[in-house]
Amino acid sequence: MTGASGVLGQAVVPRLEQAGHEVRGTSRRPRPGWVKADLATGEGLAEAVTGMDAVVHLASATTRYNKAGEVDVAGTRRLAAAAERAGVGHFVYISIVGIDRIPISYYRAKLAAEKVLQAGPVPWSILRATQFPQLVDERFLPLASRLGVLVADPGIAVQLVDPRDVADRIAALLAAGPSRRVENLGGPAVQTSEEIVRSWLRATGKRRPVLSLRLPGKTARAMRGGLLTTPDQPTGTRTWQGYLAERYGPVRDSQA
Ligand SMILES: NC(=O)c1ccc[n+]([C@@H]2O[C@H](COP(=O)([O-])OP(=O)(O)OC[C@H]3O[C@@H](n4cnc5c(N)ncnc54)[C@H](OP(=O)(O)O)[C@@H]3O)[C@@H](O)[C@H]2O)c1
Repeated sequence: MTGASGVLGQAVVPRLEQAGHEVRGTSRRPRPGWVKADLATGEGLAEAVTGMDAVVHLASATTRYNKAGEVDVAGTRRLAAAAERAGVGHFVYISIVGIDRIPISYYRAKLAAEKVLQAGPVPWSILRATQFPQLVDERFLPLASRLGVLVADPGIAVQLVDPRDVADRIAALLAAGPSRRVENLGGPAVQTSEEIVRSWLRATGKRRPVLSLRLPGKTARAMRGGLLTTPDQPTGTRTWQGYLAERYGPVRDSQA
């Protein structure tokens, strides 16, 4: 499994072990029992896939989007070629809801990686998930709060999905075998970005003015068109409010 050390990987590894799989994680850093592998160079990929029934590919250049061509596209091509040589029977890839219609270069790379698998000989399943709570809580909102004011476009809706729900779906995909289908998985609720921002401020106890603003540009327009959400069923069950309560504890009355 690539990306085993990441936010999603940390949910998927125990879930697959619970299902009885023997998981071989990869990381660019050496870790006991894992294979040291780098998608950008190809180092360790053959060793990572040798003897494996399935590859679960979660790794991505999530912290350096400008490396997505190298890591996500060329890296997926390298990994798929190694999987083919090793006779792997199922390649599961995690992608993102809306990547085919939202004009972001990182999304174009994810779409190109999907196409690598779809064109290749290794039987595949692709799961497109919506955004994880951790992405919003640990990356986007702390970064955005540095401006002093939090900007929220009331027309942009999100449908955050918990990585544990994604892990459950990945376990089900592995059990079912290659579907050669692209499936969507969203969380249990569609919420406006303004609701997300305000509930995050309440949970964290941070005080920032929230500016409700229609964001310019074609990416924001695409997002206002609902492309970050999916009507597909079933959805995950764990909520954003539940995530906030687990992480920050119950909201005190003075913050409500
Ligand atoms: N975050 C979201 O909201 C979200 C939503 C939908 C789908 N996804 C997809 O889910 C996947 C996992 O996301 P995440 O949020 O869990 O990511 P993350 O926590 O940022 O972890 C990224 C993972 O990628 C690995 N990685 C990065 N560069 C690599 C390279 N050159 N070679 C090998 N491994 C490399 C890292 O491993 P090491 O650092 O240990 O090497 C790490 O395990 C991604 O494919 C992402 O597109 C994410």
